[in-house]
Formats: sequence, structure tokens, C-alpha cells
Amino acid sequence: MAKIAVLGSGTGSNFQALLEEFADEIVLVISDQPGAGILEKAKAAGIPTALEEGGPRLSARILKRLDGIDLICLAGYMRLVKDPLLSAFPKRILNIHPSLLPMYPGKAAWEQVLADKAEVTGCTVHYVDAGIDTGEVILQEKVAILMNDTAKTLHARIQIAEHRIYPEAVRLVLKKMTGGAL
Ligand code: GAR
Repeated sequence: MAKIAVLGSGTGSNFQALLEEFADEIVLVISDQPGAGILEKAKAAGIPTALEEGGPRLSARILKRLDGIDLICLAGYMRLVKDPLLSAFPKRILNIHPSLLPMYPGKAAWEQVLADKAEVTGCTVHYVDAGIDTGEVILQEKVAILMNDTAKTLHARIQIAEHRIYPEAVRLVLKKMTGGAL
């Protein structure tokens, strides 16, 4: 069975959605934020956690903790993944982003979309490469923007879609990794 590590900085709702489907596979949660909800949720589920705040050799320090891990899922992880971590997991790091990439990469994409008066947005699961939200797309789902949407209501609806497509994308990637034997 594949072993998955989840990295996150925030509340951990995507982690929770992944956990509902991959409770046996998720074996480690790493955060860079001491008070992050994702750490609380992991502890409540009995999953080992680690805190790796910024600082020198962050990627190397994280990599050291990932012995035996097959797949990394970024779930609201607000840092760039760099070498040596990046090259140790080629096509083995996934990210969920709250827009239809390549549109609106970067932070608070739902606010960028509203400021732009766009009519539709969504979310994307993609492989992580060295760029900011630039890796190959695995799955996307559209989300309509409503007339009265605020940043909060729009982000909440995007997250509902995220919680659908992230587990689905992980299932697809695991199937590829095991040659379709899942
Ligand atoms: C999610 O909406 C995710 O798409 C976003 O952070 C949120 C984390 O929520 N990620 C990014 O913006 C990355 N560029 P969560 O902690 O509840 O899963």
C-alpha cells in the first residue's frame, strides 16, 4: 500500500477530505505553522505529525522525514517546494489550488478572481514543479461566481469542489503509480 505524507499550513479541510478516503495510506502530516488546524486534525485522527518551520535547509529537513513515503500531497501548504525535496519526488508531489490554473496562480486566488470580475473560477489539482502553481494539471472543477459573492462565500464554495477533486486526483495518481492495480 502506498504511503502518503500531507503538508499544510492552514485549517486542514483538504487533509480531512483526503483522510476520509486514504486513512490507511496517510502516515504523516507536516506543517510549518505551530498552531495550524491541520496539525490538530491529524492528532485527533492519530496520525504522526511534525513541525518544520522555515529557516535554513528547510527542504532537506523535510526530506529527511520522508523515508518510505511514496506520494506527497500539499494541502494548503503556503511555501514553495524546493530542492532537494522537489527532485527526490519527481511527479510524486501534488497540490490543490483554488483557481482554474493557469489562471490566477499565487495567493488568495479567489480574491484575485473577484477583483477581476470573472464569471467563473474553480480549483485545480496539479503536479508540483519548480514554478508557482505551474505543474501539469491532473483534474479541475469549475465553480460559478455568484453576483453577491464575497471572498468568504466564494472560497467556501471552491473548497467544496476541492474536497471532491483532491481525493479523486490522488486515486488517479496512485492507480498510475501501481500500474492500474488499485
Ligand atoms: C485551500 O483552498 C487551497 O486551495 C489553498 O489554501 C486552502 C487551504 O485550505 N491553497 C493555496 O492557495 C495554495 N496556493 P485547507 O487548509 O482547509 O485545506
